[in-house]
Amino acid sequence: MAEFRMTECIRKTKQGIALSDAEIQSLVNGIVGKDGAEKIAEYQLAAWLMAVCFRGLTDRETATLTMAMRDSGQKLSYPTLGTVVDKHSTGGVGDKTTLILAPIVAACGVPMPKMSGRGLGHTGGTIDKLESIPGLTTALSPERFLELAETVGCAVAMQTGNLAPADKKLYALRDVTETVLSIPLICASIMSKKLATGADCILLDVKVGSGAFMKTDEEAAELAKLMIAAATADGKKCTAILTDMDRPLGYCIGNALEVEEAVRVLRGEETGVLAELCTTLAAELLCMAGKGSHDACLAMAKQAVTSGAALETFRAMVAGQGGDAGIVDDLKKLPQAKCSRVLLSEQDGWISAMESEEIGRACVLLGAGRMTMEDTIDPAAGIRLHVQVGDEVHKGDALMTLYADSEEKIDEAAAKLRENVKISAECNEHKPLIHAKYSNI
Ligand code: URA
Repeated sequence: MAEFRMTECIRKTKQGIALSDAEIQSLVNGIVGKDGAEKIAEYQLAAWLMAVCFRGLTDRETATLTMAMRDSGQKLSYPTLGTVVDKHSTGGVGDKTTLILAPIVAACGVPMPKMSGRGLGHTGGTIDKLESIPGLTTALSPERFLELAETVGCAVAMQTGNLAPADKKLYALRDVTETVLSIPLICASIMSKKLATGADCILLDVKVGSGAFMKTDEEAAELAKLMIAAATADGKKCTAILTDMDRPLGYCIGNALEVEEAVRVLRGEETGVLAELCTTLAAELLCMAGKGSHDACLAMAKQAVTSGAALETFRAMVAGQGGDAGIVDDLKKLPQAKCSRVLLSEQDGWISAMESEEIGRACVLLGAGRMTMEDTIDPAAGIRLHVQVGDEVHKGDALMTLYADSEEKIDEAAAKLRENVKISAECNEHKPLIHAKYSNI
């Protein structure tokens, strides 16, 4: 085989020339140093990622990249657990569905061990959210991950050690090099993790709208079909639901704030769009796992919340991952911000738009996300919305509260937020929560 040269891969992708399977395999080996490969320098990987963002990859290159990344480390299987399910979101603003969905599904008797990521660009990450719970670790060994799946029914782990390590490396680089937005890279990132984690049924929550990486239904459908093709090639059941991300999901954006909102949903105190989305996604997963008709599964998911079973499963998961389960009863035990400020409406009217991508970026400015790979996250930073798109407001009403560790960060974020929350004289229509569904079943 010809000697592998990273400069050659960068040149070819930059010129739109497809890489061979062998080149992609060597590239992935070089990301993690597998099979004695020399590690590729980060600056070369970043250059290749940028070339992919501009030129794309063929479907075949994407499939090869996905499978090579899946095989870049250890792969899990669950011989003792029966049907195991998994879910992944393509990334949104205020998207805390995993924290609610996994306990609901587990409480209904279907195990959901899940590998999640950190924040990416303007979107938050489940790992950062969970790590805002004092003491909680997401660095679970494969043995502990399996044990929690058996005893509690769910666990959320970061990509420790050796599960899809090629994605771990690329994910962190993409986050800080503006190379997140690429359908082939998103497909390979998500599906390599999902296939390495070994679930039988995979639900993909493909976010679409201003706060999502996919801005249109067409792009979202392309990504959904590519990811389903990867699952099919690996013999997995897979459904993708396109869900609305034109507005932030729920009322809280920021790590501890989102944990707080998730607990409120699990307590049955919040019943809006977020709760609706979580029970809908839970019903899809339960249905895929053979628990009954869609209607029966929806009723089962709702019952898991009203009975308190899902909340107890969440409590057990937090404790099982070393976290302070007392936060479930006392949300003040979550990290609290040093500074806060309420933004008031300057006019009468209706909230006509909240540009979720810019709201996500404002959250990063507050300290809830990263701008460089070395940045640490402020778990208490973020935004609590007091209104949603479609609500009527009057001059002086509270629109949102901002949280950070300094007034300067709040000043900067507030200016951005003022520009991106639109108030109009008329009430306009909402988009539906679910835009479309694709499946290989
Ligand atoms: N989620 C991931 O795991 N990877 C992406 O690239 C985007 C969202």
